[in-house]
Amino acid sequence: MGDVTEEEMDNPTFKSDTVLSDVHLHCPDKRNLMVRLNAVGQPVFLSYFKLLQNTEDLASEKHGREAATEREQQYQSGGEPYDTDQNNLKKEIELNIEGVEALLDDDGDLEVIRRPRCASDIETEGVFRDRVYPVILMKGEEDVFDVEEQEGTCSDIVKIEHTMATPLEDVGKQVWRAAFLLADYILFKRDTFKCCSVLELGGGTGITSIIMGTVAKRVYCTDVGEDLLAMCEKNVALNKQLLEAGRGEVKVKELDWLKDEFCTDPEAPYSWSEEEIADLHDHCTVIMAADVFYDDDLTDALFRTLYRITHNLRNSCTVYLALEKRLNFTLRHMDVTCEAYSHFRNTLNDLENLQDRKMKYTVEPIKPDFCQFLIYERIEQLELWKIIAKQLM
Ligand SMILES: C[S@@+](CC[C@H](N)C(=O)[O-])C[C@H]1O[C@@H](n2cnc3c(N)ncnc32)[C@H](O)[C@@H]1O
Repeated sequence: MGDVTEEEMDNPTFKSDTVLSDVHLHCPDKRNLMVRLNAVGQPVFLSYFKLLQNTEDLASEKHGREAATEREQQYQSGGEPYDTDQNNLKKEIELNIEGVEALLDDDGDLEVIRRPRCASDIETEGVFRDRVYPVILMKGEEDVFDVEEQEGTCSDIVKIEHTMATPLEDVGKQVWRAAFLLADYILFKRDTFKCCSVLELGGGTGITSIIMGTVAKRVYCTDVGEDLLAMCEKNVALNKQLLEAGRGEVKVKELDWLKDEFCTDPEAPYSWSEEEIADLHDHCTVIMAADVFYDDDLTDALFRTLYRITHNLRNSCTVYLALEKRLNFTLRHMDVTCEAYSHFRNTLNDLENLQDRKMKYTVEPIKPDFCQFLIYERIEQLELWKIIAKQLM
C-alpha cells in the first residue's frame, strides 16, 4: 500500500460533484476490498464479478427468474402475503375498501404506506442477492478473502480494481451498468466476436474489453488519463488467466476523442506504435463503447472519432453502443428530461442520414432481452445500439 497512512485511507474526499455508480452499491460479492490509494488520493477497491457461464449457474438463474415470476403472479392474483411488500399490497387494497380514515393512526397522524416494490426489484434483490452497502476491507486484515488463492483458480471471475466515488472527470474509474449490458451481449453472441479485432472507446476500468478479450483475438481498450489507463492495465493483468484461456489479448492505449490523431509520442506511456495503428486499420471489424453519452460536447467528439476511424478502416465494421438513459428533473424545463440522451439520438440520426460517398451508416436498436451472464439490475433505461459502417468503395 506504499506510503499511505491508515488515516488517509479513512478519509476519502467527497465533493459536490462526486458521482457514484449504482453498480458499486450492489456489489455481488458483498465485500469491497480497499487495496490502495491511487495517484490522486482516491481509495481503490477490488471487486470480483462472477460470470454465470456454466449450465448450472444458468439453470439456477432460470430457476430464480421462474420463482420471481411465480411470486409476481401470486402478487397479482391476490394470494397469501409472503413478505412486507405483499403486506403493503394487502393494506393498499384494504385502504381502497375502507377509505381515507384508515390512513390515520390513533392520534390522527397520517400513516404512510409504501408502494410494493416492482417485480424486477424483487427478482434482483430477493432472488439473486440482497441490496448491500459497501463494507470496506483493508488489505492486510485477517479475514480478507484470499486474493492470491482466488487468482490461481477462478476461471469465471473477472477481477476489477475501481474507485467507488469520483468527481465527474474521473467517472471512468468506476464500473457502469451499460458496461455490463455490453458484456452480456458479447457473451451471448460470442460466436459473432470470435477471433475479431476490436476497438473500445472510453473503456474505463477495462471490464468490457476484458470480457471481449475472452472471445476476440485482439482488443484495443482506449481511454484518456494516465492514472485511469494504469488502472485499466492493472485490471488486464489481474485477469491474465481468463484472457489466456480464450487466447485473447487486450492492449491498453490512449485515444482522446478531442484529438484528431492517435497518440504516437514514444515518451507517452500508452501511445500507439505505427504497427499497432496499421493493425487496427487493417483488421478491426468491431468498435464498442459503454456509457459514454453524458456530455453533449463529448458525444459530438466521440461521433467525430467514430466517423474518422471507420473511414480509415480497410473493412466494414459494426459499432455497438450501450448506454443508460438518465432522467433528470430540471428547473429550466420544470419537468423530467433526458437531454444527454436526446442529443445522442439526434447525433445518431445525423450519422444515419449522412450523405457520404465512401461510407453508409445503418442504425438499429438491439432489444436488451438476451440472457444475463453478469449480476446487475437490467433496468429498462439500458439500451444497446448497433451501427453498421459499410464501405461503399
Ligand atoms: C461513464 S465512463 C464509462 C466507462 C466504462 N465504459 C464503463 O461503462 O464502465 C465514461 C468514459 O469515457 C471516457 N472519456 C471521457 N472523455 C473522453 C475523451 N475525450 N476521450 C476518450 N475517452 C473519454 C472517460 O474517461 C470514461 O472512461
